[in-house]
Amino acid sequence: GVNLSGKSFLKLLDLTNEEVRYLIDLSKDFKSMKRAGVPHKYLEGKNIVLLFEKTSTRTRCSFEVAGYDLGMGVTYLDPGSSQMGHKESIKDTARVLGRFYDGIEYRGFSQDLVEELAKYAGVPVWNGLTDAFHPTQMIADFLTIEENFGHLKGLNFVYMGDARNNVANSLMIASAKLGVNFTACSPKELFPVEDLVEKAREIAKETGSTITLESDVQKGTKGAHAVYTDIWVSMGEPDEIWESRIAQLKDYQVNKAVMDNADKDAIFLHCLPSFHDTQTAVGEEIHEKFGLPEMEVSDEVFESPQSKVFDQAENRMHTIKAIMYATLK
Ligand code: CP
Ligand code: NVA
Repeated sequence: GVNLSGKSFLKLLDLTNEEVRYLIDLSKDFKSMKRAGVPHKYLEGKNIVLLFEKTSTRTRCSFEVAGYDLGMGVTYLDPGSSQMGHKESIKDTARVLGRFYDGIEYRGFSQDLVEELAKYAGVPVWNGLTDAFHPTQMIADFLTIEENFGHLKGLNFVYMGDARNNVANSLMIASAKLGVNFTACSPKELFPVEDLVEKAREIAKETGSTITLESDVQKGTKGAHAVYTDIWVSMGEPDEIWESRIAQLKDYQVNKAVMDNADKDAIFLHCLPSFHDTQTAVGEEIHEKFGLPEMEVSDEVFESPQSKVFDQAENRMHTIKAIMYATLK
């Protein structure tokens, strides 16, 4: 059986294939309970703290609502409002917060920092996104895919765009662990780093899936069951990078032609936030500067029935609840 009690959740590479599978199943139980209005304050009396060194909507709110639903007390520390990082080291912060709290969520920059936090906190630490990985997101993503297809093994998953960012890295490892065929469809310069591809391929061997790197969009997206993309410039990257990213990725937009080339039942996924139109201040600014109204996904695909992005967003809450429960119970 699976026992994650007392463990941290820092990257999927630390989990067995069975543990990843278990978290998806547990998420389904929590989703049913929430939908049916069945109370589940299983962690009453515990307290958690959410540390954010980057901004967030979904991850922060998921941890808060999931924490309240489980009966816990929740503290949120926004970027810059604690001593951490500038006046106090991660190591000391970990040793202080570990005395107060039963679990710590951390969103920040380098993966080393979240690993260091977990090393010294003495309580479970959950990675709410680093530059390298976004592991809580994956449980929601694959739950969403399974809800649509009834199974995961053997499905073809395609990630288009910046295939070396945190989301792409985690998707590749999650696919391998769950027996899903993974394709990174991007220009060669943005293929995932070799070391991680090798690790994914080793895992994929066990589960019978494949890891493919493809820069031809037609070939890469042919027959895909799930087409996934993410913003072309991630948090922490300099704004100046937009221009070169757009040049590299403008032919890798998920649009109707891509979805038509995919499987007839294909779904579209995006972790969000997304630049599918210019309705945000930042979107407007980038549009004006670079003249591209839609970035990683066309508005048409984003708003189509194939798009499951809001189910996916909802699933963040149910899956984060499962992760906290599994590690704190
Ligand atoms: N997908 C995701 O992590 O969104 P937030 O940045 O809003 O948390
Ligand atoms: N790759 C994006 C994901 C946001 C949820 C970023 O790191 O900004």
